[in-house]
Amino acid sequence: MDRGYNSSLKSLKIGDKVAELPIIQGGMGVGVSRSSLAGAVAAEGGVGIISTAQIGFDEEGFEKDQAGCNRRAIRKHICKAQEIAGGNGLIGVNIMVALKHYKEHVQEAVACGADMIISGAGLPMELPELVPEFCRTRIAPIVSSKRALHLILKMWAHRYNRTADLIVVEGPEAGGHLGFSREQLAHRGELDFDQEICDIITCKKEYEEKFGREIPVIIAGGIFDRKDIDHAMLLGADGVQIASRFVATRECDADESYKQAYVNAKEEDVQIIQSPVGMPGRALRNSFIKAVEKGRIPVKKCYNCLEKCNPGQVPYCITKALIDAVKGDVENGLMFCGANVGRIDKITTVHELMRELAEG
Ligand SMILES: Cc1cc2nc3c(=O)[nH]c(=O)nc-3n(C[C@H](O)[C@H](O)[C@H](O)COP(=O)(O)O)c2cc1C
Repeated sequence: MDRGYNSSLKSLKIGDKVAELPIIQGGMGVGVSRSSLAGAVAAEGGVGIISTAQIGFDEEGFEKDQAGCNRRAIRKHICKAQEIAGGNGLIGVNIMVALKHYKEHVQEAVACGADMIISGAGLPMELPELVPEFCRTRIAPIVSSKRALHLILKMWAHRYNRTADLIVVEGPEAGGHLGFSREQLAHRGELDFDQEICDIITCKKEYEEKFGREIPVIIAGGIFDRKDIDHAMLLGADGVQIASRFVATRECDADESYKQAYVNAKEEDVQIIQSPVGMPGRALRNSFIKAVEKGRIPVKKCYNCLEKCNPGQVPYCITKALIDAVKGDVENGLMFCGANVGRIDKITTVHELMRELAEG
């Protein structure tokens, strides 16, 4: 494939699938990574990931039938992204375990021929049961510790005689929901996450031997430039997952003011918040966060997004907050972001960003 630039990075092999560039664009919900962004990343030879969380928010009838609209939108966006990719790269989906319709989202993605399902925000214990081994869709858990990985792989081996096709390791600098306690995040400088990555690689080797195949490891969270990619590779990773940097691209599916808020953000604007999902998250401090600090924002309507949510008790409705933001209300919506958002200084194209990362 002629991209107009050279890459000194090794391609990413996942079983019989190959992405020329070992760069996965992380799934971003609600609506931040859909077909436009994921398709553009794949067209460059990378892996584009569509987030299925409330993906149908702008489909007709969403106010009444979220589940139906989300299923329809999963199909629509996978097909569109595959069209944009034009046979290059890979197209996958990110499905959060915490979602109420997790199983339906997985089934729809498999039926649409997604290349992979990346699943976190909980432990995806039942994923192998929902994705037959013979289908084209590969499966990947997102973990933030060796302990979580060991639990998942042990259970998958025992219950399904299966293992992961790839593993995404998300560190404490990532955006969105985080697999760390607030306490750990407050002292993240003291966490030796490089050591955790090495332990994770040791752990997966046991399963590579057991199942007689390679399980690529992908590092996510705070990967900003080629230096960070090279560091991940030196630790033994096979690729990286990057999200925040892809927000500031023309192809990103969010409103232009969302992208501009990323460009304007400074390091001190980033804050750890508590999410109704039950995990901490990283977001931009804006009027919305200040309002939540003052008190609960009563939930006027339930969008049936989370498996475990009590609308009468949660501090705010996460679906409403994320939809408001992606549509452009950057002050009154919830703006997830990675720890390095303050370093983003312009809106670029996916082609330019991939070139920067690939050429180094
Ligand atoms: C705006 C935004 C939304 C995100 N939404 C999701 C999501 O729906 N599911 C998920 O597993 N991860 C989500 N993430 C995490 C990313 O997929 C990714 O792993 C992480 O942000 C990587 O760190 P980086 O942003 O520093 O590159 C989100 C991140 C951002 C910035």
